[in-house]
Amino acid sequence: MVIRLAKKEDLDEIVEIEKLSFPNPWNYNYFNAALNDLLIVYEDDSSRRVLGYLVAVCCKENRALIMKLAIHPRYRSKGIATKLLKTTLEMLKNMNVKEVEIDVDMMNKNAIKLYEKLGFKIARTIPMNSEDESFYTMKLKLY
Ligand SMILES: CC(C)(COP(=O)(O)OP(=O)(O)OC[C@H]1O[C@@H](n2cnc3c(N)ncnc32)[C@H](O)[C@@H]1OP(=O)(O)O)[C@@H](O)C(=O)NCCC(=O)NCCS
Repeated sequence: MVIRLAKKEDLDEIVEIEKLSFPNPWNYNYFNAALNDLLIVYEDDSSRRVLGYLVAVCCKENRALIMKLAIHPRYRSKGIATKLLKTTLEMLKNMNVKEVEIDVDMMNKNAIKLYEKLGFKIARTIPMNSEDESFYTMKLKLY
């Protein structure tokens, strides 16, 4: 397993996973722009395929936002998101980031469990028209 910064050549595989993972997927151009932020991929050793990715953006006051995280549906529940997140949190810590935030759909119980396992706590609810459109903002302090 290799966890590394993404390259332009990875973007087609990332977009494919994105389409399989979200109802309103980001397109190629969004991910191309994310190469200027922190776009990290999990690559399988033997096939050299990208199995998952994460996008983080650093903001003011030593804060970072995780904008995207997805694993190819065939490779879920194998601990890949956990490894990708742990590596990212280490990288952010080394960049002196003190707090990490993520907005997660209230109905996305698997993702909420994943973030809670890594220490994130629900900080606020962002209500929308219905519960299935509402979000939690989850936060983790690194220092
Ligand atoms: C959410 C997602 C990133 C999890 O990736 P993953 O590699 O399958 O996650 P992991 O194998 O590292 O799981 C870690 C923990 O998350 C929770 N979890 C993840 N998938 C789960 C599932 N299908 N059922 C129950 N719990 C689950 C569990 O607590 C799990 O720990 P455990 O295995 O010790 O029980 C993946 O399902 C995905 O890409 N979903 C679609 C996109 C998405 O929703 N992204 C998050 C946006 S905020």
